[in-house]
Amino acid sequence: MQHELVLILDFGSQYTQLIARRVREQGIYCEIHPFHLALERISEMDPKGIILSGGPSSVTDEDAPRVDKKFYAIAKVPILGICYGMQLMAVDLGGGSEPAVRREYGRAELKRLSGKTDLFTDLPEKLEVWMSHGDHVTDLPEGFSKTATTGDVITAIEDSERKMYGVQFHPEVSHTPKGSEILHNFLFDICGCKGDWTPKQFIDEEIAKIREIVGEERRVVCGLSGGVDSTVAAALVHEAIGDRQTCIFVNNGLLRANEFEETLKLYKDSLHLNVVGVDASEEFYDVLKKVVDPEKKRKAIGNKFIDVFDSEANKIGGVGWLVQGTLYPDVIESVSLRGSSVTIKTHHNVGGLPEKMNLKLIEPLRELFKDEVRRIGAELEIPEEILARHPFPGPGLAVRILGDITPDKVDLLQRVDKIFLEELKNEGLYDETWQAFAVLLPIQSVGVMGDFRTYEKTVALRAITSTDGMTADWARLPHEFLAKVSSRITSETRGVNRVVYDISSKPPSTIEWE
Ligand code: XMP
Repeated sequence: MQHELVLILDFGSQYTQLIARRVREQGIYCEIHPFHLALERISEMDPKGIILSGGPSSVTDEDAPRVDKKFYAIAKVPILGICYGMQLMAVDLGGGSEPAVRREYGRAELKRLSGKTDLFTDLPEKLEVWMSHGDHVTDLPEGFSKTATTGDVITAIEDSERKMYGVQFHPEVSHTPKGSEILHNFLFDICGCKGDWTPKQFIDEEIAKIREIVGEERRVVCGLSGGVDSTVAAALVHEAIGDRQTCIFVNNGLLRANEFEETLKLYKDSLHLNVVGVDASEEFYDVLKKVVDPEKKRKAIGNKFIDVFDSEANKIGGVGWLVQGTLYPDVIESVSLRGSSVTIKTHHNVGGLPEKMNLKLIEPLRELFKDEVRRIGAELEIPEEILARHPFPGPGLAVRILGDITPDKVDLLQRVDKIFLEELKNEGLYDETWQAFAVLLPIQSVGVMGDFRTYEKTVALRAITSTDGMTADWARLPHEFLAKVSSRITSETRGVNRVVYDISSKPPSTIEWE
């Protein structure tokens, strides 16, 4: 079945993914592509509408990102330009845009002008909106009219004949409270979308696709991590081909306390997956012996994982595909206007496996955002226990034990981590934090217990709030709560006499300590 599709052309705005999520929330499938997407591709995609994103450039810059000159004539569908997108459209069609004397950032009040406007149907005369740009449109192209202002700045324009619209503010951010309604007017009234993108529909289509790709005989393997993405991907493939999928869940000895046994049971008993549990803890501890450097730890774990997975998968035979839980943010070709970004940490994943094993990839979630994956998971009746889980890094506790890794240190950290998470859940704070964990520090300090001097280890507790892990703030957990956790940790785990709370945000820190 063919979906309605809305195309978002990205000019490098930090909010582009947010536009996509707002469109999808209205039940409409959309894709983000770089601003230079070829015109033939646009025609082939046959979108119902096109959104031009914002971006950091100024239209007056010589090297500003632009669409092809023929774009507007060829598009033939409604266009909404947001911020930079509006300025570009105005200038390309014969109007003007200039750097503002007074830059507008943050909250502003928009005033609609009299007359009918498609974009603001059923909305009040005055609206709170969020601005974030230095330039603004000064002259309107022919056929356009001004439909809203903030102070003396033109905030919204439209040519209802050619169905072209522009807004200076960001309807996609939550600081524009009526933003979703404005987008709704554009998508439904102007583009004529009906909203045919639902979890159920997605699942049915993916199942059909997977069956067609894999055929009647072949087998697939899937690496499970215990996290949301790989579990939902596996459950979806299971619906399609049942036990012809073999899932492999590796215990690298760096999981949380009891996680291997409990998750394996959940996979088998609740999800009825065909899953093999491989306990390779010793092999991982072996390659980690005396390794202290964080990047070396990550590489050692990644390589070992590939070895273990490869040898298990080879036992199965007849395997043609590898299932991965890749998400949409991983595949969007990002518009980098500031050069390529540096590697901060090497993420452990199964990259390298498909080549080594000569496997093709099945990535059923590659069109989805994380919150959509959770919705698909709920539709597939995956237990909330898995869907609401905090993210957990591939290299596991190895990047939370500073210094070298030993089974004893893993055991100690597992016990501390368990107390912290147990208390978060007891107090209803688990769902309010995006991620929470303990870190074992490579230092000892002096303490006193009873009448004795102690010289023991320190653990740091880290709890953060975030939306996507790209940026984060430390969670303001109640002092009383922290006091209770600290006291439980020092009294219940021998070897720890000091607990500290990490109050760093990302940036400048990262979420994990290594
Ligand atoms: P950082 O520490 O880079 O972490 O701020 C951002 C998010 O990514 C998780 N993380 C990983 N996830 N493999 C993963 O699958 C990894 O190697 C890895 N390293 C960090 C981290 O837990 C946080 O949620």
